[in-house]
Amino acid sequence: MPTVKFVKENVVIEVPEGANLRREALRAGIPLNRGFLNGFGRRLNQTILNCHGMGTCGTCRVLITKGAENVNQPTLKEKLQFKTVVMPDPIPKFAYVQYGEQLRLACQVKVFGDIEVEADPPIDLFGEKFYA
Ligand code: FES
Repeated sequence: MPTVKFVKENVVIEVPEGANLRREALRAGIPLNRGFLNGFGRRLNQTILNCHGMGTCGTCRVLITKGAENVNQPTLKEKLQFKTVVMPDPIPKFAYVQYGEQLRLACQVKVFGDIEVEADPPIDLFGEKFYA
């Protein structure tokens, strides 16, 4: 069975081949829907204020830091979220500018081999890819 390592949490889980990354993370007690809020707002994002895997809220952003070849290709929902104005939330688009193809929506990722995942990658609006 493929393994998924959550780098920040230092947790490794085994998942069935083709498993949904967000669902498996939740089973392991790792809420991925964090958005950009902190404190109570973050708790709301994790519990209520997310699309529960429909691929429309953009709060389950993760970086696939190793094993990107072991997951499915980006879905249409991810392309809409990261590259178009159809989904108006700018935060996922800013994150995509910074991280590119490494950035995925966990709810759209199917795992077929070993991967490493960084949840909630920080967005640096003043880094070299933005207004430095
Ligand atoms: S849970 Fe909303 S985009 Fe993944």
